[in-house]
Amino acid sequence: MKAIVYTEYGPPEVLQLKEVEKPTPQDTEVLIKIHAASANPADWHLMRAEPFLARLENGLLKPKNTKLGADIAGRVEAVGRNVTQFQKGDDVFGCMPLNELGGFAEYVCADEDALALKPARLTFEQAAAVPLAAFTALQGLRDKGQIQPGQKVLINGASGGVGTFAVQIAKSYGNKVTGVCSTRNLEMVRSIGADHVIDYTKNDFTQTGQRYELIFDAVGNRSVSDYQRVLRPNGICAVAGFTSLSRLFQVMLLGGKKIGLMETAKANKKDLVIIKELLEAGKVVPVIDRAYPLSEVAEAIRYLEEGHAQGKVVITVEHNNKT
Ligand SMILES: NC(=O)c1ccc[n+]([C@@H]2O[C@H](COP(=O)([O-])OP(=O)(O)OC[C@H]3O[C@@H](n4cnc5c(N)ncnc54)[C@H](OP(=O)(O)O)[C@@H]3O)[C@@H](O)[C@H]2O)c1
Repeated sequence: MKAIVYTEYGPPEVLQLKEVEKPTPQDTEVLIKIHAASANPADWHLMRAEPFLARLENGLLKPKNTKLGADIAGRVEAVGRNVTQFQKGDDVFGCMPLNELGGFAEYVCADEDALALKPARLTFEQAAAVPLAAFTALQGLRDKGQIQPGQKVLINGASGGVGTFAVQIAKSYGNKVTGVCSTRNLEMVRSIGADHVIDYTKNDFTQTGQRYELIFDAVGNRSVSDYQRVLRPNGICAVAGFTSLSRLFQVMLLGGKKIGLMETAKANKKDLVIIKELLEAGKVVPVIDRAYPLSEVAEAIRYLEEGHAQGKVVITVEHNNKT
């Protein structure tokens, strides 16, 4: 089978499309013929080993796991002997653990607990756009952010992969949502349910006089005092990303109980089912910026690294009859 492989850390040029051995499912695993995957910042963090701490996870000098790609959607081709939830022919979607990525390939084996049936109303591309970004939005808002109905919620970075899910998930809890994005994304962010939008190229959301019970920051470009200025008393700010190590350390050291980094999003069955139900109910609709073929994953990552994706960047995996 074909897969994207990297054997040294570096820019997208290190990614190569190679012929590799097709995997065989372990007892609790499912072999999936991948139809679509999606790219996440985690892919380029691992590819470049940036920040440096990524090397502790995936090898000091060169990558231990030489594959990338967390989000997958495809058709079950074979099941391990103890698999109970899926059978050959099922259409599924899910998220690989960060130390076992392998979604940028024609086939992958995943534990059955990492998967759910693909909602019939979604294409493979739409389903592949969902898992990691939606886990991040859900877990950031719910677990770190302690989201409650009836709150004023602000999403910074509302137009990106995570932000587009955060806007919709915050709305699904019954909240008034303000999305911060640039001019060209104002309409899109409104169209996915934001009640208010702030154009960050014209207005600073920390200077409008509005205050929020919950801020979910998918950019991570603001100081702790900025967050404090716009949080209501007892408000919470959950930060998912960061634009520099100094921003990261400031939030970690000075944020206190109410302003802090969310934990790294964890793929799990319970949350995948919650997200699947939101998708089936039409309360969450994936926003796809563009799609690239498997042979152009390097281009897809290069584009994502620019930091201006409108929703998700998807990889489509074509199969010829031999595979
Ligand atoms: N904690 C976790 O477990 C976890 C999991 C997944 C992702 N993350 C992190 O979360 C962050 C977001 O991930 P993502 O997948 O959403 O990335 P992404 O898709 O690359 O985000 C790009 C979006 O960010 C917007 N943006 C850039 N600068 C902005 C600014 N100054 N103000 C407001 N919006 C701005 C861009 O809009 P414009 O084009 O309009 O600028 C674009 O729509 C990343 O740092 C990622 O590493 C964390």
